[in-house]
Order: sequence, then structure tokens, then C-alpha cells
Amino acid sequence: MKINLNINGVSKAFLIQENEYLLEVLRRNDYTSVKRGCDNTSCGVCTVLFDGKPIPSCSMLAIRCEGHEITTVEGIEKEAEKLANYFGELGADQCGYCNPSMALTVYSLKKENKHATDEEIKAYLVGNLCRCTGYVAQHQAIKKYLGDES
Ligand code: FES
Ligand code: FES
Repeated sequence: MKINLNINGVSKAFLIQENEYLLEVLRRNDYTSVKRGCDNTSCGVCTVLFDGKPIPSCSMLAIRCEGHEITTVEGIEKEAEKLANYFGELGADQCGYCNPSMALTVYSLKKENKHATDEEIKAYLVGNLCRCTGYVAQHQAIKKYLGDES
């Protein structure tokens, strides 16, 4: 069967199986910035924006996405670069595996609540796990990014 998505601002049709998840469809169609980790909604590396809100694509049936807007990190390139610069400045290393999902989630937070408190930032990012570097420098970089009006 076929579904139509608006992906990163472009309307496209995708062939899918009826029981297939969005993550699978995206990766098969070369949106490989969307990563597979746990496959059970625990790690966040498969995050995409669904109508502007972060969701784990490993648990979203592709068929439910018909007509919706999907954003991967390629769709927010400029903002992702801005955030990456703050990560670099504060020594907040992020690997290429978790970085795209982190960028999408932080971008969404900025749109929703750019004056987020420390606790609100932590709560918003609770679904994005890092298995290697930690969270403190990342948190500081995110605060700087949220305050960036450029
Ligand atoms: S792969 Fe989707 S949350 Fe881990
Ligand atoms: S920096 Fe990517 S999982 Fe930790």
C-alpha cells in the first residue's frame, strides 16, 4: 500500500507494509539520520518530529502517518548546526548516533518553550538517552541554544 507524507517540507509517496513502523520506512528510503536503537521506545534515537512534535518513530505505525508532516534532522539543518556549535563550544560531545534525535527534540523544545527551566529541559529530554558521554555539558549547551535569538 501507499502513504503520502510531507517530509522535510516535500510531499512524497511511500510504499509500505500495513504493519510496518515509520522508522523502517524512513531508513529504507535513505533517511538514515533516523537511527534504530532499542526498537521499544526507550532510547529516543529514532526520534522524528510528527506535525512538529517529537515522537519515537519505532513505535509509530507508518499507516497512521498518512497526510502528516514528518521532520528529520535534514529538515532543520541550520538549527541543528547552531546547536552543534554550542555543543562544541562547551565540550558536549555527542555521537552521530544520538545527535540527530537530540537536535530534533531540542529544536522542538525551543519552539514550545524557549524559556524552559532546568527541570523543564530535563523533563523534555527524558526520552533521549546517551549511553556514553553524560548530560551536564549538553544541558549547558542546550540552555545557550534556547537563549540564542539569532
Ligand atoms: S529505537 Fe525508538 S526509542 Fe529506541
Ligand atoms: S553521545 Fe551518542 S549515545 Fe552518547
